[in-house]
Amino acid sequence: MFIMDKHKPAWFQNGVLYQIYPRSFYDANGDGVGDLAGITAKLDYLRGSQHSLCVDGIWISPFYPSPMADFGYDVANYCDVDPLFGTLADFDELLAGAHKRGLKVMIDFVPNHSSSQHPWFLESKADKTNPRRDWYIWKDAKDGGSLPNNWQSWFGGPAWRLDETTGQYYLHTFLAEQPDLNWANPEVRATMREQLRFWLDRGVDGVRVDAVWWLSKDPDFRDDPDDNTFTNSRGGPKLYHYLNELVAVVKAYPGRFMVTEGYPIERGTPRPYLPFYRRLNPEITAPFNFEAIHLPWKARAYQKFINQYQAATRANDIPIYVLGNHDKPRLASRIGQPAARTAAMLLLTLPGMPFIYNGDELGMENVVVPPERQQDTVERHGADAPGSRDGERTPMQWSGAPNAGFTTGQPWLPLEDNWKERNVAVEANDPASLLELYRSLIKLRHEQPALRDGDYRPIASGHPDVMAFERRSSHQRLMIFLNFEPEPAECKLSTPIGQLLLSTTGTERQTDIKMLALQPHEGIIIEAQA
Ligand code: NOJ
Repeated sequence: MFIMDKHKPAWFQNGVLYQIYPRSFYDANGDGVGDLAGITAKLDYLRGSQHSLCVDGIWISPFYPSPMADFGYDVANYCDVDPLFGTLADFDELLAGAHKRGLKVMIDFVPNHSSSQHPWFLESKADKTNPRRDWYIWKDAKDGGSLPNNWQSWFGGPAWRLDETTGQYYLHTFLAEQPDLNWANPEVRATMREQLRFWLDRGVDGVRVDAVWWLSKDPDFRDDPDDNTFTNSRGGPKLYHYLNELVAVVKAYPGRFMVTEGYPIERGTPRPYLPFYRRLNPEITAPFNFEAIHLPWKARAYQKFINQYQAATRANDIPIYVLGNHDKPRLASRIGQPAARTAAMLLLTLPGMPFIYNGDELGMENVVVPPERQQDTVERHGADAPGSRDGERTPMQWSGAPNAGFTTGQPWLPLEDNWKERNVAVEANDPASLLELYRSLIKLRHEQPALRDGDYRPIASGHPDVMAFERRSSHQRLMIFLNFEPEPAECKLSTPIGQLLLSTTGTERQTDIKMLALQPHEGIIIEAQA
């Protein structure tokens, strides 16, 4: 259940957010890597002009100074901009340009680990008595010389690295170049709150907080059990306490918002997400909900999970559904181009604050990057996901100009083979394109009160391949039917259908029939007769 709260800013109750991976969005200076000036140059694509997508906000993945071992998720200074991306002045210009257009700006906050080149870590590793020694997690080898415990890095191999200088191991949940900060140390937490305030003072509207599960660990550093639950290395007893300290910072700035990133181990159930509402302040924070990335593309699976999620969340809780990001194979590659249209309608008709990953609105697909051009070298990225994430991070395809108009230099990752057909310029001129469908769906979401703040109620579609639900506000009732499969589907309705607002296949239909025939993969939005 979700009820619009008139006293809260609309952008984080029902706004559409757009994730920008800055390396790959638009390169303004020709070095082959996207930058902040590039984002500023493309703001009209997002909002403020007649042909904009009209999203309500953006989240920009990290642009901090960084050795880029994890492409910016290894932060060497939390309060500056890497020269590759520009300067603080470029950021201010981007923020001002966004705000002028009514576009909110969220940034990435990476509290669990810094870069191994961060001055804090360089001090910490210098010697055992350094005042910053306890800012990171140092342990001796066990008697007999084995690793301090059995914790594994999320990117492959043990999570401990021996530092020759002091003969102790440090913990790195991700790459060895990303040592975990010691959140049990109050000084570390106070400093991280200051880093957060730096950006809130600068005027950012919100933060996406990276890798939250690891902020608290088992205080005794016991081994993880061998059942793949990782119950000691992550989700420790202080997790919500630490997160609440960040929430308190955000709360001091009215109208700001915090999204937490955490992939649950237990899949397909709302259960692991609920404490992020119940134990934090759901007025100003909510978790990303990643299940729609992992569920099999089956109407029954989606209907079941989303019904459960909507039933389990309360009036004030903001659902944040996600279909893709820079860590997961592209949506169109996972489910295919025809289904990507159905998925777009699903995402943009559900309650809450949907996030679109840049390029998914074009139907961009995963690119097979040849070994000699590989950038991301992680062995795995999660409990079960193999290999490099380059394929989903390739440059945005803007036009038929060289390098798809992304750069005048050599793009840092190769482009998709068919970028000449799949790009913003081509799709903007084709009313049947995926981009135009996204634009129509976002427009409808802004225009129709029930899509903005209506209740979610499941409908029995009468067909196993068709997911159906209602969005109902006090004066409006919309029905959404989504055929997940490449076969036509007929649904018997108890009441005649009303006015068709949008079909993903552009199929016209009569308004007073009781048998609804859906085309393969068709999704429709109908305004029910009152
Ligand atoms: C999640 C980020 O999205 C991913 O790209 C990064 O590698 C890890 N957290 C570690 O910061």
